[in-house]
Amino acid sequence: MPNNSAPRLSIAGGTHQRRDDDYEEFCTFLEATCGITLGNNKRYLVDSRLRAMLDEYRFGSLRELVRAARSETGNHLKVRIINAMATNETSWFRDIYPFEYLQDVILPDLARNPATVPKIWSAACSYGHEPYSISISVQEYLDKNPGLLPGGVEITGTDISTRALEQARTAEYDELNLSRGLSAERLARYFTVHGNRLRVSDPVRRRVRFLDLNLLKSYSLLGKFDVIFCRNVLIYFSNENKSQILSKIEAVMKPAAWLFLGASEPIINYSDAFEMINCSRGVVYRKKT
Ligand SMILES: C[S@@+](CC[C@H](N)C(=O)[O-])C[C@H]1O[C@@H](n2cnc3c(N)ncnc32)[C@H](O)[C@@H]1O
Repeated sequence: MPNNSAPRLSIAGGTHQRRDDDYEEFCTFLEATCGITLGNNKRYLVDSRLRAMLDEYRFGSLRELVRAARSETGNHLKVRIINAMATNETSWFRDIYPFEYLQDVILPDLARNPATVPKIWSAACSYGHEPYSISISVQEYLDKNPGLLPGGVEITGTDISTRALEQARTAEYDELNLSRGLSAERLARYFTVHGNRLRVSDPVRRRVRFLDLNLLKSYSLLGKFDVIFCRNVLIYFSNENKSQILSKIEAVMKPAAWLFLGASEPIINYSDAFEMINCSRGVVYRKKT
């Protein structure tokens, strides 16, 4: 029979009481570092995602890890923690309608000014599916409308996860990855075989640059954008961080620029700087002028 009165050890160190304190300290550290908030029910996630790292560095508890990360001179541990804790779930042409709206409404609108070189930002771009889906949409628009947007389109993908960005920059994906959201026609047209993987074709790839950017920090070096995709990331943040991020996003949008958020991320309580437009299968926000 188990002895219920004996203190039980957990990955976070010590007894259950100690584990609560350690978990709290870890959550505070994670939110301050990258904005991600964890509820009480996410302990299993922390345990499973950090177990290998704790073992590798021989930290006896989460608290030891957090203290070492706080006092390190560089960012090594912080980067490892963020890479382990960020949820990078993504897919090609996710939710479909933002990419259709881009092709059907936004690009034609921007093309009315031939001198413009539209700038599109995929904030929190994960493994690159979103910015490359944007670039394929742009390519299809340009192919159907030769001569329009002669200066091309610039796409910037940013993320906090160096691991995700590394993968995005290779532009290479395995078959399983490519099965989520890509039609056979797009696969054949915009990917080339590269060893046992498929690689995004040169014209689609060259339009996209990737930068390491924490949404909690300044965006001022990015320039101003015509369209911003900031999808399926605000859900991880506190209301205060959501408001601050939306106000910084607004500041890097050109007048009347467009903003796409994730399907479960209504803007209403966090900013009044945008007009909501209902389109076929979702909503798009437009900066008020
Ligand atoms: C669920 S993915 C969404 C990817 C893509 N936007 C989509 O909708 O498919 C969330 C991404 O947000 C990134 N992320 C989390 N916190 C961040 C932060 N503070 N700054 C920048 N990116 C962050 C994660 O690394 C992850 O790649």
